[in-house]
Amino acid sequence: MSTSIQLDGVTVLRQGRKVLDDVSLAIPASETLSLLGSSGSGKTTLLRVVAGFVAPHLGVVRLGDALVTERGRIVLAPEERDVAMVFQDLALWPHLTVHGNLAFGLDGKKVPRTERDDRIAAILARVGLSGKERRHPGELSGGERQRVAIARALVLDPRAVLFDEPLSNLDVGLKQELLALFRELLGERRATALYVTHDPREAQALGDRTAVLDEGRIVHLGRIDDLRSRPDLPFARMILEALG
Ligand SMILES: Nc1ncnc2c1ncn2[C@@H]1O[C@H](COP(=O)(O)OP(=O)(O)OP(=O)(O)O)[C@@H](O)[C@H]1O
Ligand SMILES: [Mg+2]
Repeated sequence: MSTSIQLDGVTVLRQGRKVLDDVSLAIPASETLSLLGSSGSGKTTLLRVVAGFVAPHLGVVRLGDALVTERGRIVLAPEERDVAMVFQDLALWPHLTVHGNLAFGLDGKKVPRTERDDRIAAILARVGLSGKERRHPGELSGGERQRVAIARALVLDPRAVLFDEPLSNLDVGLKQELLALFRELLGERRATALYVTHDPREAQALGDRTAVLDEGRIVHLGRIDDLRSRPDLPFARMILEALG
């Protein structure tokens, strides 16, 4: 059960500066949208607005038909949104096992124990981590930790998944492998996804469409290849060079 995500006229001010500047964006249910932008362009802030951790100074956010955030006010709390996040630093709990990390959210939702353990076993099998449920994050490789982070998000059966540069610390081969896995998992579940990255190749590999964010404004929305016909745009050249 995925949801559409819609932002209308979202502006976020920090110390008098517009970190997001009149951002409007509609992501249909089941679409993966890549959000590409340089450091400081406002990507994480935009994710935090969708997740419900930041109330914008102007504008509204809708999930499906429901108004979840309005100017200055969180209408629906983050834990009520059924939106999962995969963080750059993964934010796994080091003192919990793999099983414990995945059980945490399901226990919070009062999922019965047997169903909980079945769901954990199924997703761990899907991401290739069967047999590692009793390990702690410190006893896993970087790629395995990454698999735990995506499994922890998906085991909740979220209506949407928000990714904040989850692969930026991995080598190229592992990145390709995990991008392929993400694409498969999102496709199977038809989950709506917003994937933040500063790497044009990642944006192209994962996104149905790509939004380019520059100093808090959306300056392009569409297929990344469409930029080939707009080399005049200041950011387009840099992106196209990275794509090779
Ligand atoms: N709580 C805050 N207080 C003040 N300024 C903030 C706060 N959060 C973010 N900013 C500023 O807002 C701008 C956008 O930050 P944001 O974290 O959204 O960028 P980003 O695109 O995710 O960057 P990166 O790629 O480095 O993660 C930055 O200039 C940052 O310094
Ligand atoms: Mg960020």
